[in-house]
Amino acid sequence: MRLNLRIWRQAGPNVAGGLVDYTADHVSTDMSFLEMLDVVNEDLVKKGQDAIAFDSDCREGICGMCSLVVNGVPHGPDRGTTVCQLHMRRFKDGETVTIEPWRAKAFPVIKDLVVDRSAFDRIIAAGGYVSINCGGAPDGNAIPIAKDVSELAMDSAACIGCGACVAACKNASAHLFMSAKISQLALLPQGQVERTKRVLSMIEQADADGFGSCSNEGECEAVCPKEIPISNIARMTREYTRALLVSSLSSR
Ligand code: SF4
Ligand code: FES
Repeated sequence: MRLNLRIWRQAGPNVAGGLVDYTADHVSTDMSFLEMLDVVNEDLVKKGQDAIAFDSDCREGICGMCSLVVNGVPHGPDRGTTVCQLHMRRFKDGETVTIEPWRAKAFPVIKDLVVDRSAFDRIIAAGGYVSINCGGAPDGNAIPIAKDVSELAMDSAACIGCGACVAACKNASAHLFMSAKISQLALLPQGQVERTKRVLSMIEQADADGFGSCSNEGECEAVCPKEIPISNIARMTREYTRALLVSSLSSR
């Protein structure tokens, strides 16, 4: 196939960027989307031009590094699929494909298609962990947890922190990401000790980093490669309300 690509190029965080046209020749339907970009970059390097910067690591849909908006959709047209798992057979010969970085104030562009997602790390560092001594793995396995609860917690733990939910949201909200981690830990006994502090700290950090609030658009759920449901956001809201009550009662 031959594809017409319109790719966002931006030399650095503080310079203006814009869409630049490229042609991708000899694209195999078996290639992944990132392999197609690798081939485009090999051609650019052979011509002595600057390669297009984009993020990737595992290329197996598990690390959350690949962060491309393809034809206006974070992670592209396939539901429940990261862009590294998207294949070129999804596109037609002669098609024009527009590729842009995540767009959100809290995810500034570093170069071309690479954005700085360290705001997510700060949210996790604010409370997305268990710091009490839970014992070793055998101790964890000895705690009885109902199967439906453990499965719900496991589903929430599937979030890979990619940030597509933020990129798709008109409010650039991090609610789906936060709610996945908060749900996972609020559902399990190991997460109970820090339950109140966790939700308050994570939401405070998200506000400080410039993420917006949630207005129930559902765009986050639609693009999430791990299909994290927005019912997690409802659980996070209940956790937050509970935490506000508990902290106001304990300060009396
Ligand atoms: S909730 Fe989904 S879209 Fe958001 S960071 Fe996690 S995996 Fe990515
Ligand atoms: S490169 Fe790891 S999820 Fe895409």
